[in-house]
Amino acid sequence: MSTSNDRPMVPGLLVIDFGSQYTLLIAKKLRELGFYNELIDGFAKEPPKNFEFSGIILSGGPDQVSSQEGRTLPSWVKESKKPILGICYGMQLLVDHFGGVVKQGEQREFGQEDITWTQDGNENKLFAQTPSKQTVWMSHGDHIEHDESVLKSLAYTKNGVIAAIRHVSCEVYGLQFHPEVVHTQWGSSLLKNFATNICHLQENWSSGCILKQLDEAIKKNVGGEKVLLAVSGGVDSTVAALVLTKALSFDQVSCVLIDHGFMRKDEVSEVSQSLKNLGLNLEVLDEKELFMGSLKGVDDPEEKRKIIGKLFVESFEKFAKSQKNLKFLGQGTLYSDVIESAGDGSGSKVIKSHHNVGGLPERLNLKLIEPFRFLFKDEVRNIGLKLGLKKELIERHPFPGPGLAIRLPGQITEEKISILQEADKIFIDTLKEHGLYDSVWQAAVILLPVKSVGVMGDNRTYQWTCVLRAVTSIDAMTAKVSELPFSFLNSVSTKIVRKVDGINRVLYDITSKPPATIEWE
Ligand code: XMP
Repeated sequence: MSTSNDRPMVPGLLVIDFGSQYTLLIAKKLRELGFYNELIDGFAKEPPKNFEFSGIILSGGPDQVSSQEGRTLPSWVKESKKPILGICYGMQLLVDHFGGVVKQGEQREFGQEDITWTQDGNENKLFAQTPSKQTVWMSHGDHIEHDESVLKSLAYTKNGVIAAIRHVSCEVYGLQFHPEVVHTQWGSSLLKNFATNICHLQENWSSGCILKQLDEAIKKNVGGEKVLLAVSGGVDSTVAALVLTKALSFDQVSCVLIDHGFMRKDEVSEVSQSLKNLGLNLEVLDEKELFMGSLKGVDDPEEKRKIIGKLFVESFEKFAKSQKNLKFLGQGTLYSDVIESAGDGSGSKVIKSHHNVGGLPERLNLKLIEPFRFLFKDEVRNIGLKLGLKKELIERHPFPGPGLAIRLPGQITEEKISILQEADKIFIDTLKEHGLYDSVWQAAVILLPVKSVGVMGDNRTYQWTCVLRAVTSIDAMTAKVSELPFSFLNSVSTKIVRKVDGINRVLYDITSKPPATIEWE
């Protein structure tokens, strides 16, 4: 399978990941400040090809310089002659490289500290326009010792711990604290100073610049060919559809929405109306019977997912074969997905990906076009805003490809789907009415295959139980239960039991991820 994904043609910074929990934050913060950057694993044997970086940032990390297994400064970094900023472990690697000593401290200390910058003659490029005393988010377990004629100490904590250094003759700097976290008062200024004063970059990474880059790359790669794009009504696929259609033409980009019957109440009609209003070439494939028929009698979650995945691929395949000259499959893959699945295995994180149309490019011999391969989710959202998408669409909660089918443990029936759709609508609408929708990252109702006894009026009831799930999260890898007010939960429960025929009991799921997952199946 070939892919067609040009990286943006702008200068920027290279961030090397030595395993810190904050590495992604460095990359995002720099982009927010207007500086394009790419991330690469600390184990990488060479820099990324075709990326003209003007400086290198070495992240922190859990390793110890003295340990045999610790990540080391790659030889291509030592030879690069580019400006370098080492953060925490990154700084210790620099100290070690320039003949200093990194000594293991008694205990690791994290937290806010006040530091004082020393006078640095005319060379205070790193802390220019920031006060000499400032609060930083420190992480010092290991102490450094070095020759001041090689590495000059630039800042100290109250206890005399060295907080910042620079090389006396080359543009190499180190910080023993995290400029990327909000608790470091002047962190953004320090990063900006490194990028502008030391690496001579300009703040030019903006939605306008991104759009221009995307436009040129899409035109160049796709030319006059046709693209098939799976859309769901979510932010990523909608923005991808807009960007592709804007760069190409209405006829060249077929946006396909599969109606598998497990969407939210009225969602297919609402989404198709809004996508058509945006000027997209939308085709809705009604596959409700096919999906429902194939899932009859199935109650194992993995089997459900496999069947749904297979039917997705088959439905697209059927559509694709009915089209002439289709050469590309568009996908909304984000930079965070790319980073997660990169690396040589030793330092990379667990991959959690859901390939709703996995396998399709190979089967149809299509090339992949992934316009957002170098973008973070926030950047995609900002492009959406710039292209005129409504805030409600941009801020929509995520919704899984298999839809309500994975929120119905046990066997799926049409009746249960419609009960779940009603309850789900009440939950989501009430969140919006109470102004709570935006404080929740994702909300769902799960219909359990459990009946219980209740009483309504003078009558005994024996009906289904549903669970409300609402979580806060940043990237879905971890999630915490949303602390919704009890009075709100109470009112949702009352509405559901009153209005949804088939449910007489409502529960609230208070489990975090891990150990639970967000979805129930
Ligand atoms: P879990 O349940 O793994 O879900 O904690 C994490 C996030 O992924 C979404 N999800 C999916 N999205 N296709 C998707 O497009 C899928 O098969 C799928 N499964 C889970 C889930 O809604 C949550 O946002």
